[in-house]
Amino acid sequence: MTFQEEIKRRRTFAIISHPDAGKTTLTEKLLLFGGAIHVAGAVKSNKIKKTATSDWMEIEKQRGISVATSVMGFEYKQYKINILDTPGHQDFAEDTFRTLTAVDSVIIVIDAAKGVETQTRKLMQVCRMRKTPVMVFINKMDREGKDPFDLLDEVEAELGIRVRPLSWPINMGQKFKGVYNLYKSTLDLYTPNKQVVTESIQFTDINNPELETLVGEADAQKLREDVDLIQGVYAPFDVQPYLQGDLAPVFFGSALNTFGVKELLECFVEIAPYPRPVETVERTVDPMEENFTGFVFKIHANMDPNHRSCIAFVKVCSGKFERNVYYKHVRNGKMMRFSAPTAFMAQKKETVDEAYAGDIVGLPDTGNFKIGDTLTAGEELHFKGLPSFSPEMFKYIENADPMKQKQLDKGIHQLMDEGVAQLFVNQATGRKLIGTVGQLQFEVIQYRLLHEYQAQCRWEPISLYKACWIESDDEQELETFKKRKAQYMAYDKDGRDVFLADSGYVLQMAQNDFKHIKFHFTSEF
Ligand code: G4P
Repeated sequence: MTFQEEIKRRRTFAIISHPDAGKTTLTEKLLLFGGAIHVAGAVKSNKIKKTATSDWMEIEKQRGISVATSVMGFEYKQYKINILDTPGHQDFAEDTFRTLTAVDSVIIVIDAAKGVETQTRKLMQVCRMRKTPVMVFINKMDREGKDPFDLLDEVEAELGIRVRPLSWPINMGQKFKGVYNLYKSTLDLYTPNKQVVTESIQFTDINNPELETLVGEADAQKLREDVDLIQGVYAPFDVQPYLQGDLAPVFFGSALNTFGVKELLECFVEIAPYPRPVETVERTVDPMEENFTGFVFKIHANMDPNHRSCIAFVKVCSGKFERNVYYKHVRNGKMMRFSAPTAFMAQKKETVDEAYAGDIVGLPDTGNFKIGDTLTAGEELHFKGLPSFSPEMFKYIENADPMKQKQLDKGIHQLMDEGVAQLFVNQATGRKLIGTVGQLQFEVIQYRLLHEYQAQCRWEPISLYKACWIESDDEQELETFKKRKAQYMAYDKDGRDVFLADSGYVLQMAQNDFKHIKFHFTSEF
């Protein structure tokens, strides 16, 4: 196989959903199709069990286990599929945001009874920002849910993307009979079965009276009406708008019953993009370039306090990565080689000799890497597109053990490099603030500072609404603003100006009063 063919057969994506919509179940079923596992129930859910939501030690343990399932690679037909797992707990949403920067497309799972939920809405914002191609799987059709047409309208309105159904359910819940595949004109009849993969019936002409025999008169009639309506309302499916992130094909099924999953997978491998060109500060990098480039999108710390080792997850953006070859770590200018890079096949982590654009390699690390670092064959490049998002919770971090100031500083910086949370420094007072997306991170930070750095911290409350990165072409207005809001100005980790708004009202007033200043909720704009 040529180098280009290797890259073209790669499909790197993430499955995202609101907790409980069926992400773990769908992932498992896809692995089952790929032959990567043989029985259902084999994938360890990295979902935090409901009973353990307050027990963050348990959560960290589960996160530790989830290294193995961080990336699940498998072969399906001629394709190499890489599924990037994302944490189920919303307090780790920042991890999920970053994972989305390393994928070439996304499958969104929606619970047919619940429709679009908050977490899905937030994650979709990131996809929209990056123009990531998105497919939707409406799950749990074996239960009573919302009307399929209403669900399509809801997805369009709530997720801000045009939709096009490519399969259509015949009834739902107790009366669920199957799905008609509009993309391939096949009919799949439903028999609840958690293990067996169903075979489709070719059904090119939906007016064939055979349909009555298979699903009964009323449902046959309803299906024909629905399909007529779909064809009237929606334009024929076109792959281009999908690839541009403007149109989401929609499939219906039941992941638990392995139903409708094959239709999704078959269409996915055919139309989902292979690695896409990636922007750097200097130029656009094409995946087909022979020279290796990649960036670190995730760092997984070892939970063993005696070995402060991590795994840095690198997305290969172009060319071929090889074991024991020297690459340039652009931020610190060092040449580095890796003797034990790991790849992830099914449930196993194994040392690999090479990886191609689209693949993820895990590099054992002892503190050389930060989130966003670039590796190249020698070129001076800096990948873009790993923005920080405004945290939702803030606390002052104070030293609780004056003898350990150095350890505390080091610990804070390393944890921030790992992407556990964000550090802001108040410009007027020099006080350090930590911003997170959930309460759990504060506990994680305190625990890890103590156990890995022997440093003790104390949290002091502060009530803030949002952190906004600010910019303006009007230097004078910017200076006036910074002076007036001096108490609320902070630096982010890169020394950039951030305005800490203490309420939505204050932010709105600031936006009204300073018309030439742009307030951004992400660090990249
Ligand atoms: P998540 O990763 O998105 O959080 O969801 P997960 O796959 O763990 O699924 C959440 C629950 O929904 C699970 O039940 C799962 O069995 C169920 N489920 C997934 N797909 C379907 C489906 O197509 N139909 C029906 N009826 N249920 C589905 P649970 O009771 O919370 O967990 P478990 O004990 O069954 O694992």
